[in-house]
Amino acid sequence: MIEAQQHSATTPRVAAFDAWIRGRFVDLNTRLENVYAAQENRANVHGIGDEIKAKLRDEGRELITPLIEEGNTDEGFDRAFELLGNVGYYMAACRRHEITEPSRERTSPLVEASTLALHLGATVGTAPRFVASHMETYNRAVNGVYRTFTWGADEKIFLDYNTRSSLAYMRAADALGRIHPMGISHPAANDLLLAAKDALDQALALNIELGRVLDVDEFFFSVRPYYKPYRVGSQEYRGANAGDFAAFNQVDLLLGLCSPTDPSYTQVVVEKIPYLPPDEQRRLQHSFTHPNLLDGLLAHADVSNETWFQENAAAYLDVCAAHGAVAAHHHDELVAAFIERPAEDIPPEHLETITASGPPLDVLVRALEGLRDRRIAADRDDIPTRRDDLAALRALLR
Ligand code: HEM
Repeated sequence: MIEAQQHSATTPRVAAFDAWIRGRFVDLNTRLENVYAAQENRANVHGIGDEIKAKLRDEGRELITPLIEEGNTDEGFDRAFELLGNVGYYMAACRRHEITEPSRERTSPLVEASTLALHLGATVGTAPRFVASHMETYNRAVNGVYRTFTWGADEKIFLDYNTRSSLAYMRAADALGRIHPMGISHPAANDLLLAAKDALDQALALNIELGRVLDVDEFFFSVRPYYKPYRVGSQEYRGANAGDFAAFNQVDLLLGLCSPTDPSYTQVVVEKIPYLPPDEQRRLQHSFTHPNLLDGLLAHADVSNETWFQENAAAYLDVCAAHGAVAAHHHDELVAAFIERPAEDIPPEHLETITASGPPLDVLVRALEGLRDRRIAADRDDIPTRRDDLAALRALLR
């Protein structure tokens, strides 16, 4: 009842497009995935299922064109962001099926969709494409079912776990972010550190489970291709990335494992900002202005015998270990099993756009390794890590 009411708050044209995206669009994508999967080389989509592709392109365009005429109906952020997601789903699917291909074109042939997406991107203050939040924390479920590209079980598995893991990270970031205004010696700070550790342990458990239940081939060949870069108008926007939420970086910065004055790290964060919804952008910006907890604890070394210090320093180190464990698992297990290993077996011509952000896979993997090593405070002399500072803190524990 509530969902039906929310739905009727939108215009009939927006609702018609939404209904198509949640039904017929998913059918068409699923049919195409089945045709691709029946081939010996399932990475090949060129010239396959052209009739279905034409239906996808034309039916979508017919529903989008009247939305441009309708203009900005000013129904608030949630509606505009959701509609941007729907246009984005359509454009991403066209990219996945190579109805569009950014290296082949200088401007997107999806003129109507580009027009609407650019208008909406300017309205909400994000990149004019579909982003991870459209699939996760802003993906409205209708009667228990949220938007997906296909009916494939593995797409839903990937999103269910990603969403829940992101939410766990958001709980950790929220807890850590509340310590600064009250100070690390406040009696309630210990509760917040324990809450953060608990949330990060949950994120790890979810990610481990995801790695166990997700099918490597289905993910690699039928889920990830929808997250590729595509053009909106003349500009190409990088792909959607499950890591496009603020909390992972908030935790990095609040713990002090990564530094706002480390240019390689900050570059990763700055690049991400347009791909976050505005509330997430603000959270991330905020965490750049806070002093970090590690510096805060080390500044109290002269009172390290106090009970509060002993308890909170120990709890802080446990939070760091939990964060490091998630980061190490992400890199050593998820990226290795679901990206690196399957990439070894596919022909080089299909490898070019394998990463969401665009760089060649080995370059991306090295960059991700650097992030992991900051988070586990590894012994490296080529990038800044807090290994020595963590050792100094540990040495103050009785
Ligand atoms: C099968 C599961 C997953 C795979 C294969 C995977 C793979 C990747 C890859 C390849 C990137 C680099 C993106 C690019 O530039 O192309 C990335 C980034 C990222 N992923 Fe995942 N990921 C998975 C699940 C998750 C989950 C569940 C989370 C969070 C809780 C997560 C958090 C992140 C973050 C935060 C980044 C941004 C880079 C960083 O700060 O480390 N990923 N992931």
